Amino acid sequence: MVHVNDSLMPPAISDPPMPLLQINNLNVYYGESHILRNVDMNVLPGKMVCLIGRNGVGKTTLLKTVMGLLSPRLGTVCLAGQEINRKTPDQRARLGIGYVPQGRDVIPRLTVKENLILGLEALTKRSKTQQIPEEIFELFPVLKTMLSRMGGDLSGGQQQQLAIARALMGQPRLLVLDEPTEGIQPSIILEIEAAVRRIVETTGVSVLLVEQHLHFVRQADWYYAMQKGGIVASGPTRELSNEVIQRFLAV
Ligand SMILES: Nc1ncnc2c1ncn2[C@@H]1O[C@H](COP(=O)(O)OP(=O)(O)OP(=O)(O)O)[C@@H](O)[C@H]1O
Ligand SMILES: [Mg+2]
Repeated sequence: MVHVNDSLMPPAISDPPMPLLQINNLNVYYGESHILRNVDMNVLPGKMVCLIGRNGVGKTTLLKTVMGLLSPRLGTVCLAGQEINRKTPDQRARLGIGYVPQGRDVIPRLTVKENLILGLEALTKRSKTQQIPEEIFELFPVLKTMLSRMGGDLSGGQQQQLAIARALMGQPRLLVLDEPTEGIQPSIILEIEAAVRRIVETTGVSVLLVEQHLHFVRQADWYYAMQKGGIVASGPTRELSNEVIQRFLAV
């Protein structure tokens, strides 16, 4: 396009950024049961996106498909514009997806430090070091005092912090968190949500979160609501109405 006279042109509107994660028309089955139906979703760089929905609607199924633990029958998952449908979970970790599955995911018979070092698996050999970056302890100070404790001896909230910290050790571009506050006491929930928000603000990492606690959901920039395996509502979290909250959150 030739700009004849720029001063007469409306202010330039820059193109929207390319999504870091782009999910198109995703359909996933367990055997013959059709779980995810035509799911479209975007996570923009540096943004925090929350997926809400009641029990059993398919939230975990979606995150597992993003991570490559399940394969779609139809549809695509793209990371930074590259289709990753055929990549294994290990390959996706190396491409920059850090995944914290639902439930406790620390290795109980390894120490906190050993659990953290496991997170380095997602890095290429070249950049591997056995050092734990200070930023990890700034986000989760409690871990610093517990490096030689067994993972299994930590409280539920501490284990969840360890699981998130381990995912960060792999320096992900996208952090995928499946109900990180499930079964955790309220004061620790606030610590975890503050840490996640801080990760987004200070590192530019994008987050895809499944969460039931409204206060945590509201920390996200954008929400998607799922019902029976399909996305039925989405928008900025500041526009989350009470009606949507009551329909899609178990509050
Ligand atoms: N391994 C499996 N084999 C067969 N069906 C499954 C399997 N795992 C989950 N499902 C079914 O798939 C549906 C979606 O499950 P999913 O775990 O994705 O839901 P969810 O939204 O994460 O639920 P929750 O809020 O309880 O974690 C449910 O009906 C569940 O029973
Ligand atoms: Mg789930």
